Amino acid sequence: MKKQFIAGNWKMNLTMGEARSLAEKLCDESDNSDAVVDIGVFPAFVFLRDVCEILRGSKVYVGAQNMYLEKSGAFTGEVSGAMLRDVGCTHVIIGHSERRTIFRETNSMINSKLKAALSCGLKPIFCVGEKQEERDAERTNEVVGNQLSEGLAGLTSEQANELTIAYEPVWAIGTGKTATPEQANEVHSFIRNTIKSKYENDTAQCIRIQYGGSVNAENADNLLGQPEIDGALVGGASLEPGSFLDIVSAAVRLS
Ligand code: 13P
Repeated sequence: MKKQFIAGNWKMNLTMGEARSLAEKLCDESDNSDAVVDIGVFPAFVFLRDVCEILRGSKVYVGAQNMYLEKSGAFTGEVSGAMLRDVGCTHVIIGHSERRTIFRETNSMINSKLKAALSCGLKPIFCVGEKQEERDAERTNEVVGNQLSEGLAGLTSEQANELTIAYEPVWAIGTGKTATPEQANEVHSFIRNTIKSKYENDTAQCIRIQYGGSVNAENADNLLGQPEIDGALVGGASLEPGSFLDIVSAAVRLS
C-alpha cells in the first residue's frame, strides 16, 4: 500500500508569527506519524524561508503554492522554481483551481509550469477538478481528462512518477460541501485509468492521488478509507495544528 500524503495548503492566510508557530507545532507533534504518512505544508511565499528553517531536519515537507514557468528574468512579481529550491522547498502546487479561475492559468501554462518545476528538482502536486456546472452537465470526466492530457503533455513516465495529483472538485473547495467518498473514489479511479493509458501501469499504481475540498477531521476517515484515495490536500483545516494533525492521525490509523 502507498504511503498517504497529507498536505496543508495555507493559501493567503496567517501572519509571519502565526505561520512560524504553526510550523513549530507541526515540527514537535508530527514526529510519530512520518514513518507511515508523508506530511507537507504550503505556506505563502513570504513565509517559506522561515518555515523551511523551522522544519529542517523534521519529516514535514515544505512547498510553495505556485511558481512561474520561466527560469529567471524580467517577470515582475513572479518567483522561479530555482528560487524555491534555494530557500529549501522540495514541493510546489501547480494548477490549483484558484490559480486557474482567478489568475486565468490555462492547461498549457500549467504544463509549462510542471516541466519547469520538474527540471529544477521540485516535486509538483498537480491539481485538477471540475466546476459545479460541469459536474451538473455530466462533464466531469471530460474536463478532468482534458486537464490531465494537456497538463501532462510531453512528460515522460520518469517525470510523471515524481508527481502527486490532487483531485479538487471546485464546488467542494472552501464550501463545506465535500464530494461523497464514493464520488471522489470514482473520479480518482478515472484519473488512475487515464494515467495508465498514457504511461505504464507501474506509474499509474505509484502516483498518489489526493482528494481536496473541505476535508476536515470529521470526514477524513471516510475519504481516506477509499481504495483510490492516497491522501488529502487540505485548505481551511490545515491552519490549526489540531485539526490538521487529526487528519494526519486518520491517515495513520488507515495505514
Ligand atoms: P478547503 O479544504 O478549505 O476546502 O480547501 C481545499 C483546497 O483548495 C486545498 O488546496
